Amino acid sequence: MFYHIDCIEGARNHLPDASVDLIITDPPYGIGGDTLHKHYNRNEDFVLDGYIEVPMEEYPAFTNDWIKEAERVLKPGGSMYIVSGYTNLVHILNALGKTRLKEVNHIIWKFNFGVYTSKKFISSHYHILYYVKPGNTPVFNTFARYADTEKNETEGGSLNYQDREDVWQINKEFKPGKIKNKNELPTQLLTKMIQYSSNEGDLVCDFFLGSFSTAKVAIGLNRRACGFEKSAIAYNYQMQEIKQVVPGGLLEQLRVPPANIYVNQSKPLTEEEKSTILSRFDALKADGKTKKAAIELMGLEFGRGPWSLERILKNRNA
Ligand SMILES: C[S@@+](CC[C@H](N)C(=O)[O-])C[C@H]1O[C@@H](n2cnc3c(N)ncnc32)[C@H](O)[C@@H]1O
Repeated sequence: MFYHIDCIEGARNHLPDASVDLIITDPPYGIGGDTLHKHYNRNEDFVLDGYIEVPMEEYPAFTNDWIKEAERVLKPGGSMYIVSGYTNLVHILNALGKTRLKEVNHIIWKFNFGVYTSKKFISSHYHILYYVKPGNTPVFNTFARYADTEKNETEGGSLNYQDREDVWQINKEFKPGKIKNKNELPTQLLTKMIQYSSNEGDLVCDFFLGSFSTAKVAIGLNRRACGFEKSAIAYNYQMQEIKQVVPGGLLEQLRVPPANIYVNQSKPLTEEEKSTILSRFDALKADGKTKKAAIELMGLEFGRGPWSLERILKNRNA
């Protein structure tokens, strides 16, 4: 399932229409391979040679072609996350705009140790473009990482809300003394996208494998993986490395959130249920309960979250 080939040709030859559940990929940035690694202030002896760049003048056409293939191979309802710097972001957005793919979120990934500059602000973020293919309901595992009821004990607020904000602060991994790709994505970042947008057994594809980081994390989380890498050096090295990855081996490291107590949360509300909720609220108030206590109790009784109960009460008073 991993091919040493240009991703456009590779997708055409090896991936049928509507065959992939999730694409996570990080295309070459088109900013000159020789300067890319200088951004990272690290010992270059451990960085693999052979990173293949795309010349700037070819970037728009190249981007159109691979994104067209990505759209074709995604299943209806399949998701795609594209990681991009800002230099060529416009070409990626333009290419996405020519497809039927729908934008879900434009995520900012803030990382540590940005490119040091003294006469301007220090660049320390990437863009992650999260799109879905229309035609089916996308996988989005809202409570895969944090239950709705979990509170942030140090800063306050809901952990689930905070984890699903569209600015992600995740550190890069420097792995001193270990062989790495020039621009390797952190396991934590990949885990987050894979947990939210796929289920075990799903097929996850990376058009630009690099260090095979997407594939390694996908297999570690018991998904299937496939993809393409044009550099023979990276491909040959990583084809040996990936053999060490244990399917499902990362699952035991995942945090297991408590079960979601609002079991009816995504079910549509009927008029009958709304009126039962209002009567119950009135009875609890008459019994001397505060509004907060009544909502907490009704959350358990009706399996509905506090915001939806608040909305029902607010609409009655509107
Ligand atoms: C930004 S890196 C990917 C990094 C990867 N996500 C990781 O975590 O290691 C882009 C990779 O795409 C490869 N590449 C460049 N042009 C390609 C093409 N046309 N088809 C497939 N791979 C290509 C480069 O050699 C490089 O390894």
